Amino acid sequence: MTIRLTRRAWIRTIIYSSLAITGGAGYISSKRLEKVSLDIPLPGLPERLDGLKILVMADFHAGAFTTREDILQAISIGNEESPDLITLLGDYVDGAYSHSRKNVEKGSYVFDALHKLRAPLGIYAVLGNHDHWTDPGLVRNKLSRLPVVILNNQGISLENGLAVAGVDDFWEGPSDPFKATRNLSPESVIIMLSHNPDVNLQLKGDERVRLVLSGHTHGGQIRIPFINWAPWIPCSPKYRAPSGLIRETKRRCTFITKGVGTFFVPVRLACPPDIGILRLRKA
Ligand SMILES: [Fe+2]
Repeated sequence: MTIRLTRRAWIRTIIYSSLAITGGAGYISSKRLEKVSLDIPLPGLPERLDGLKILVMADFHAGAFTTREDILQAISIGNEESPDLITLLGDYVDGAYSHSRKNVEKGSYVFDALHKLRAPLGIYAVLGNHDHWTDPGLVRNKLSRLPVVILNNQGISLENGLAVAGVDDFWEGPSDPFKATRNLSPESVIIMLSHNPDVNLQLKGDERVRLVLSGHTHGGQIRIPFINWAPWIPCSPKYRAPSGLIRETKRRCTFITKGVGTFFVPVRLACPPDIGILRLRKA
């Protein structure tokens, strides 16, 4: 028996097949974590900080599509780099407008996995908008059981002349970079952790912060190949590139990681997950 398809049925078949193939490819891509290794040139960087290595991780979104194995793989790749210092930039768990603490429990395997991170100069963490869309108090509680310093509009000076400041989320915070840096020595090289790169809107004119580290954008997560366009990236136009290093001023750069997990759909297109391995360099 021969089945004859109408023109409309053919078109429908082609569309559904294309979506299935694209979705499959996007799912596979969402599991192929990349390591983004970059030198960060900073004019006037003290000799003793030249070569300092920072591991940047963000956007785990545990409890939805990111598995424990995905997170353990990212941690293993990060630890292999023997970073001097580690930064965790929020969205540990997947949130919803229900603000339910159940989402923290559902994704709590992320906190178990983060126990495996090691760095001699410490691990520093801020919260993201998704953490606020669960129970931020419980997220902080889970983080506080790790060897992690939570920076909630706070800064800390290290003995080597580096200072790490961190702000609460730009959307859900408040984010207060001035409070976070006010106790830091003016001679310190300040690195600011902010889940959302739009913290730079608050930093205009502030030349003390030398490097901003952010996630949040997921690089768009789904980008149209060849034209490199993403339908939705929830931040200022300046930060809608896939990821990487952005020069803000002569003295300040921003690095944005695409993150470890996915949000809304378990798919990444032309935008694989990543962790950042940054080396500070005297420019
Ligand atoms: Fe995120």
